[in-house]
Amino acid sequence: MGWRGILGFEYGIVQAPLGPDISGPELVAAVANAGGLGLLRAPDWEAPDHVRRLIRNTRTLTDKPFGIGVVLAFPHKENIKAILDEKVAVLQVSWGECPKDLVLEAQQAGVKIVPQVGSFEEARKAADAGVDAIIVQGREAGGHVIGQDGLISLLPRVVDLVGGRIPVIAAGGIVDERGCVAALALGAQGVCLGTRFLATRESYAHPTYKLKLVEHDKTEYTDVFGRARWPGAPQRVLKTPFFMDWRTLPSHENEANQPVIGRSTIHCMEKEIRRFAGTVPNVTTTGDIESMAMYAGEGVGLIKEILPAGEVVKRLVEGTQLLIQQQFHGEKL
Ligand SMILES: Cc1cc2nc3c(=O)[nH]c(=O)nc-3n(C[C@H](O)[C@H](O)[C@H](O)COP(=O)(O)O)c2cc1C
Repeated sequence: MGWRGILGFEYGIVQAPLGPDISGPELVAAVANAGGLGLLRAPDWEAPDHVRRLIRNTRTLTDKPFGIGVVLAFPHKENIKAILDEKVAVLQVSWGECPKDLVLEAQQAGVKIVPQVGSFEEARKAADAGVDAIIVQGREAGGHVIGQDGLISLLPRVVDLVGGRIPVIAAGGIVDERGCVAALALGAQGVCLGTRFLATRESYAHPTYKLKLVEHDKTEYTDVFGRARWPGAPQRVLKTPFFMDWRTLPSHENEANQPVIGRSTIHCMEKEIRRFAGTVPNVTTTGDIESMAMYAGEGVGLIKEILPAGEVVKRLVEGTQLLIQQQFHGEKL
């Protein structure tokens, strides 16, 4: 048991796409240079020229392969066309059905397609559509959470379903080598980490947000943020003082009629941030940062420092190999 690499990458370590624009070229290139799969994040609106720029900027920082994530719940056709034209290594998709047509189109363009799913049924549909790998997201995950199942029960069911034909990648609550070994033991061939890569030097998260990831150790599954823009998309957030004050927000309230609490430039667009918006603060954000959404997975309590992303990959690889050797080799069960 150990790393065999997936999808042509050296290691089975995936840096999740971090919306709306937190996983940019610097983060993705740092992960790629360390032998992992880094994923950019396409905008939630059609902006094919911007998508091309993101990909080309990343290529100036690495000659290794990388990928990009697209949220299918938002307009995306032109963005996907640009992604396939640019022939990135991997197209990650989430929050929407991944139809056979799209799978074929991607594969014909030489791009591997990898949906993130949150249920057994979604995994079955993805496998039937012929995808190249499946990311299984457990309810422990940070950011928007697609399903209700915990990783420890859902992951082996999906592994059994695909029977070794498709690599399965575990996402949700994994932060260090112990999480990696647990995922491998459950049958995954790779791990996908969001919160750990959010708390790196290269991520575009606002410095205050990064600090909170180190300071706080509790999260909650909620739907308080972004109800108007993206209804029916619950999320896991840090239990910040702001969130604790508003966690029982009445269901008829949403960000649409709330005061503007800040501003951000997101994928080169100026945006107003209203209270309860689902947009996490990035490096450009000004205003009341402490009152903005801060997504994080259940493993956040294990994050003690902001690290370079390449160091995160290195520690995961070395730590996992060492842990397997020390704890499991030669042991008689
Ligand atoms: C700030 C943040 C933004 C995220 N944005 C996206 C996204 O745009 N698309 C997506 O498929 N998943 C997104 N996710 C979820 C990740 O893909 C992944 O499932 C999750 O981070 C795994 O759990 P972890 O954070 O505990 O590692 C996001 C997660 C975080 C923390």
